[in-house]
Amino acid sequence: MSQRFYITTPIYYVSDKPHLGHAYTTIVADALARYHRMHGHAVRFQTGTDDHGQKIARLAEQAGTTPKAYADKYAETYLQTWRTLDITNDDFIRTTDPDHEAVVAELWRKMAEAGHIYLGDYEGWYCVACEQFYTEKELLPGNVCSVHKRPVDRIKESSYYFRLSAFAEPLLAHYEAHPEFIQPENRRNEVIAFVKSGLQDLSISRTTFDWGVPVPGAPGHVVYVWLDALTNYYSATRRSDEAKPFWDDPDAQIVHMMGKEISRFHAVYWPAFLMAAGWRLPTTIFAHGWWTVEGEKMSKTRGNVVDPIVVSGDLGVDAFRYFVLREIPLGNDGDYSREGLLARYNAELANDLGNLLNRTLGMAQKYFGGHVPVPSEDYAGTLGELFDRTLEQVEREMRAFQPSRALTAIWELVRAGNAYIDQAAPWSASESRRATILSTTLALVHGIAHLVSPFLPERAAEMLRQLGRPGEKPSWPTFSPGQGWSVTAPVPLFPRLDDDRKAALLAKWAPKAEAPAPVAAPPTAAPAAAALSSPATNGKPLISFADFEKIELRTAIVRVAEPVPKAKKLLRLEVELGAERRQIVSGIAEAYAPAELVGKTVVVITNLEPATIRGVKSEGMLLAVGGQAILGLCTVDRAVGGGEPVK
Ligand code: MSP
Repeated sequence: MSQRFYITTPIYYVSDKPHLGHAYTTIVADALARYHRMHGHAVRFQTGTDDHGQKIARLAEQAGTTPKAYADKYAETYLQTWRTLDITNDDFIRTTDPDHEAVVAELWRKMAEAGHIYLGDYEGWYCVACEQFYTEKELLPGNVCSVHKRPVDRIKESSYYFRLSAFAEPLLAHYEAHPEFIQPENRRNEVIAFVKSGLQDLSISRTTFDWGVPVPGAPGHVVYVWLDALTNYYSATRRSDEAKPFWDDPDAQIVHMMGKEISRFHAVYWPAFLMAAGWRLPTTIFAHGWWTVEGEKMSKTRGNVVDPIVVSGDLGVDAFRYFVLREIPLGNDGDYSREGLLARYNAELANDLGNLLNRTLGMAQKYFGGHVPVPSEDYAGTLGELFDRTLEQVEREMRAFQPSRALTAIWELVRAGNAYIDQAAPWSASESRRATILSTTLALVHGIAHLVSPFLPERAAEMLRQLGRPGEKPSWPTFSPGQGWSVTAPVPLFPRLDDDRKAALLAKWAPKAEAPAPVAAPPTAAPAAAALSSPATNGKPLISFADFEKIELRTAIVRVAEPVPKAKKLLRLEVELGAERRQIVSGIAEAYAPAELVGKTVVVITNLEPATIRGVKSEGMLLAVGGQAILGLCTVDRAVGGGEPVK
């Protein structure tokens, strides 16, 4: 029976539409799936969305919609993007799918029956953006999440616990016995060190919101979003008889591909849950690195988020796929440079690969009217040997999850093909020698069309069409010059970009920083008579620097937050400005729950005249984002403490 290969991507949060990072993991998984299909293996490729959790519940609330409607909207953007990027996933799972929810409940029951779950109280820190509990030690000063650089929430609630501490030894034994389990090596070492440092039991249910899978037999509790999400890898294989063997067959290779930031969930929690339920473990957890863009973290505020749909629309899907697969060895961090993308496009796609096809077909047309006869000599020579060596290399690299290195090897072959044409000089050869040279290059380009198909599926199909093999199914190629060829006229595979086109693309892709956030209230004093206004000031008068200096802005840490009775928009806050504590009434109750605010570092206008609002004294004002509705709060991107001046 053919080998089974089950490959997964993380299921992505439905908090926004996909960007370069999400596309990267999915394209890598797609290339691996296509590569295994080429070998005739039984392949299952799974992706989907992570719909539950407090993050989505909050975003939906802020958007004034239901969590399900919010999730539906963004799940659709993922589906559309994968369609555009030629992703060949066999299934798309969502954690709101009822059959998935049933498997989550089943896993819970199994773990509970085996005595690995108990009820307790959780008190500690939680980062909603990570959907992760943290110990004080793991946070930056001021209780700030080290990933999101935002203050985390303090939570205190009844919670079920998973006896993770009992799994440290079994996990370490598994890592030891299966060196392939966590890859690459640096991640493996990191995870081993983490487990060796001691595992604490894990809180696996929440009670303060209900957007999740209900805990079986425990009303009011929903399953912790990561336990719910990780289960998708298994639940997706329960959906059909066709899918089941991809988990049940002990010889099936199961590979979870993801970014390095979530390796702990996959390499520690997930196998521990599976051990607790007595289910089999995946074969490999591969954690790849992170992309920055022109040296900077991708972020909406910087306006540098790379949209795969835009780039693919401008340059072709396969150019985008090629660049992300080729640019960084899987596992390393890397930088996305727009100029780098254009340089690779022209040099490697238009020039190396495009020219090889173009020259070969051009000569076939010129000398043989498109019909190259079977050569009289059977000639593969050194090119044939290089071809076979390249196949071995591609095979080795793809088995080691290194699409970038596989592409490097293929491109050496492409360049060798161009060099062969230069040396063999068909233009000055005899007719029979020409037939040999052209048959050889046609065989080479045909093999290359198959070899590049996991990476450039659409352009590979186009190469096959031009080679007179339309619709040929990608398969592991052989080098066989001894056949007659009927080919079409060449059409450029990757039209070369001239300087004007490159400049236009760079201008189009340049980061567009979002407009600075408007403040919640107008400045206190504006000199009316001398005022100038312009479109850029939104109709408000220009103010002098001296005017601006009249406003005293300082950082403050929220220590207490509670509703103001009978005022649905207002919260009473106690904030700490260094040694000083103040009370502020703020109209943000519709956008923030009190518990979310405690611990946040905000920006406060401290010299605003005190006012009494609904009988409560207010000594200052928080800066918030939004017009009628509050969209967010101005917080600070580092742990700076309260009372620091803001200017
Ligand atoms: N929902 C969880 C995963 C649950 S899996 C059981 C989640 N979702 S996510 O939407 O935040 O996606 C994280 C993944 O997106 C990363 O693991 C990685 O695959 C990809 N990337 C997001 N940004 C990235 C970069 N800047 N660079 C590379 N990949 C990154 O975490």
